Amino acid sequence: MAGTKACSILITGANRGLGLEMVRQLVEGPCTAQKIFAGCHSPQGPQSKALQDLAEKYPDIITVVPLDTTDPSSIKESAKMVGSQVGDKGLNVLVNNAGVLAHGKMQDTSADDMLCAFTTNVIGPMSVTKEYLPYLRVAARSSGEPGMSCCKAAVINISSRLGSMSSIPQLYSIFPAFSYSISKAGLNMLTVYAALELRKDEILCTALHPGWVRTDTGGEQASMEAKQSVEALLKVMSSLNEQHHGGFLDYAGNTVPW
Ligand SMILES: NC(=O)c1ccc[n+]([C@@H]2O[C@H](COP(=O)([O-])OP(=O)(O)OC[C@H]3O[C@@H](n4cnc5c(N)ncnc54)[C@H](OP(=O)(O)O)[C@@H]3O)[C@@H](O)[C@H]2O)c1
Repeated sequence: MAGTKACSILITGANRGLGLEMVRQLVEGPCTAQKIFAGCHSPQGPQSKALQDLAEKYPDIITVVPLDTTDPSSIKESAKMVGSQVGDKGLNVLVNNAGVLAHGKMQDTSADDMLCAFTTNVIGPMSVTKEYLPYLRVAARSSGEPGMSCCKAAVINISSRLGSMSSIPQLYSIFPAFSYSISKAGLNMLTVYAALELRKDEILCTALHPGWVRTDTGGEQASMEAKQSVEALLKVMSSLNEQHHGGFLDYAGNTVPW
């Protein structure tokens, strides 16, 4: 991250949208990382070409990691691969970015839609975090730094304002996304639980809202470009400390109400 020691970072869902932009800025922008693991559901698929091109340009920094965050064996394999590369320095940052969105109100939503949202947006981040914990712990122990930060060890969950219960009455009529909202509220609770459990390990856990961003998820009408959102997110990430542990912040660093 900006102005800190070089670090290692894993980003899930890194082949397009915010994840891809984060990889791009971490390798080409002012916020640098020494080792970037770009988690990707289908590395050989047509939607991964931009990531593969970037990885070819920076082979010493970017490693494309096959990672379907809903598949336990894929998560395990990816962790083995990343663990063998980070060695005794561990993994500094895990960004749980992969997510799915379905539009619709309660009456348009089936049990299967709910299951799909929960599988990717809650169970995925939970399973990935648990599998990568040993490497995050190694990073926290080997850093020698006091307190908590992204250059030491951190889990960043990319949540959404649509998961904020107090914001939904204003957002409901503009953007009804029943299964998504409930799953992101679940991700927020996951962040709070993880923060309580991982405090003793000094692994920072924070949920971030990236803004309404023009990606496949955000849609054409969104108010921000991915570039702007990621610039802001990386700035916020580099400023996080123990005061933000278990918190929910937006891309400008403001606290989002639960
Ligand atoms: N854009 C916004 O306005 C906005 C607002 C608030 C929060 N967010 C959150 O920001 C995060 C990134 O979204 P985005 O806007 O960049 O959306 P996006 O462009 O649609 O990208 C979603 C990413 O998630 C990946 N993904 C989905 N399921 C996966 C799985 N099972 N395993 C691995 N990867 C998986 C996709 O991979 P494939 O290409 O393989 O499908 C893709 O890389 C999401 O968590 C989203 O909820 C976005």
